[in-house]
Amino acid sequence: MKVIVNYGDLGSGIDLKELLRSFGLVHITDAEFTIDEFADFAKNLGEPLKTEKHTSNEFVQMVSHDGLFENGDVDWHNDWSYGRGSYYGTVLYNIKGGHLADTTFCDMTKAPRKLKDKYRGKMGEYFPPQRLQSNCFTEKQIKILKRMQVRRPFVQHWQGKELLYCSLGTINEDFPDIREFAEQNSHTHKWKEGDILIWDNMRMMHKRNSFTGERTLWRVQFAIGTK
Ligand SMILES: [Fe+2]
Repeated sequence: MKVIVNYGDLGSGIDLKELLRSFGLVHITDAEFTIDEFADFAKNLGEPLKTEKHTSNEFVQMVSHDGLFENGDVDWHNDWSYGRGSYYGTVLYNIKGGHLADTTFCDMTKAPRKLKDKYRGKMGEYFPPQRLQSNCFTEKQIKILKRMQVRRPFVQHWQGKELLYCSLGTINEDFPDIREFAEQNSHTHKWKEGDILIWDNMRMMHKRNSFTGERTLWRVQFAIGTK
């Protein structure tokens, strides 16, 4: 599910945290933030993750054609699947060329009971894909991630809803039936100038296709919710 908010209406009593909790995906149109304003905006959503790579502000990551994730296909995944702490919130701001690649989402609270029942009680193991390791992480971070090897249950209760969690691009095997559900129940966002998307990564699995050209988005990951 998605809700749309106009940038001009921010600050007039709209509770973005509540909208995020209700819908899982919030679309803000026509934003005009500087990078520091954007970092402050993200801080109001939740405690932001500090980053050491691809930043010009200590909280803002540069997602670009020649940096984080580069320009290849990015398979279905949930951000922070292999991370520790509760940095399940992502806010992504189209700075340049967002339209070159759509972002496609699947709300995993909508997975059918049959699929949830099949995977109930099973655990998944998560780790960054090999090709992202040098671009997205420092050596120190990779060592920590290898040591901790995050495990997560497939079926979880999250903010009053039951969801099926399976970050297909970062789990240790493939699950064709979950992939098929995601492909058939997806929502594609076509980026426009000034667009910001905020989403809950416990709930919204997403992917992006490859592209050519120059594309830059600013990203902040932030902590949300508790079970
Ligand atoms: Fe992502």
